[in-house]
Amino acid sequence: MKTLHEIWAESNARFEALLKGLYEDHGEPQGRLFKAMAYSLNAGGKRLRPFLVYLFCRACGGREEDADKAALALEMIHTYSLIHDDLPAMDDDDYRRGKLTNHKVYGEAMAILAGDGLLTDAFMTLASAPLPPERIVSCVRLLSQYAGPWGMVGGQALDMLSEERELSESEVRAIQTRKTGCLIKAACVLGAICGGGTREQLEAAERYADSLGLAFQVRDDMLDVIGSAEELGKAVGVDDKKNTFVRLWGLERCADLVEKETQKAVEALSVFTYSTYLEALAREMAVRTH
Ligand code: IPE
Ligand code: IPE
Ligand code: MG
Ligand code: MG
Ligand code: MG
Repeated sequence: MKTLHEIWAESNARFEALLKGLYEDHGEPQGRLFKAMAYSLNAGGKRLRPFLVYLFCRACGGREEDADKAALALEMIHTYSLIHDDLPAMDDDDYRRGKLTNHKVYGEAMAILAGDGLLTDAFMTLASAPLPPERIVSCVRLLSQYAGPWGMVGGQALDMLSEERELSESEVRAIQTRKTGCLIKAACVLGAICGGGTREQLEAAERYADSLGLAFQVRDDMLDVIGSAEELGKAVGVDDKKNTFVRLWGLERCADLVEKETQKAVEALSVFTYSTYLEALAREMAVRTH
């Protein structure tokens, strides 16, 4: 049996091939915009969200080609969220995925537009999935719900509005579920929809995602303190104004919470016959160093 790392590498090879050439020079006059979009999209990254889309599609009996467009749409939206997150008006970061941030290379205006371009193109991509129309409509509705003001954008807004103010535990959780949790949930549920999952399977995908998403952001906050910039590809020690889980609880309680949520994620998988890699992935994300 293949290891998680082998399966993830195979998924990424498929995914990188789809990305390749997506925004190459088509002779359009706005070529620089496409270059800026391709710069961040092709900068690497773990490709966790596409991997989740593929794994849940397979767990529900679907094929990889059923999930390609949803995987692309998720990574486009995630990449746009990172480009905007790094802007001077937001977290003001210089490095991302081991390279200079988008605005450092293309300027702020082009970075904002590259984000806008990826966000919009994500929906064009998803709408052209080779799936029954009712499945596409479900996917489009869910992705806009999870990515927009009810989801990720809402969380980013709360994150910005709460800088330099001490938040309660429920307020920090309200930010996390939206800014990070919602796109992870979108990846899991969209994957399950693409694979033709039952209602029970969609609900299980949501429960897995809720726990994985929480553990993932707690680990992200921990890595800002204990991680290395070299491995992470982004600066560390930059969350001092932020209401992170580490600030709320300290490192030790954070580590306990990651373990507990990982266990809950694994328990949610009992309704799937093919879930070995989803289990291994949750365990791997709990101890990740990048
Ligand atoms: C970083 O996400 C932003 C958060 C939601 C914490 P990832 O850690 O998945 O970033 P990449 O895609 O691997 O660069
Ligand atoms: C980013 O959270 C979440 C989104 C981009 C939606 P962070 O601000 O903690 O992510 P990093 O640490 O810059 O990757
Ligand atoms: Mg941020
Ligand atoms: Mg940030
Ligand atoms: Mg962070």
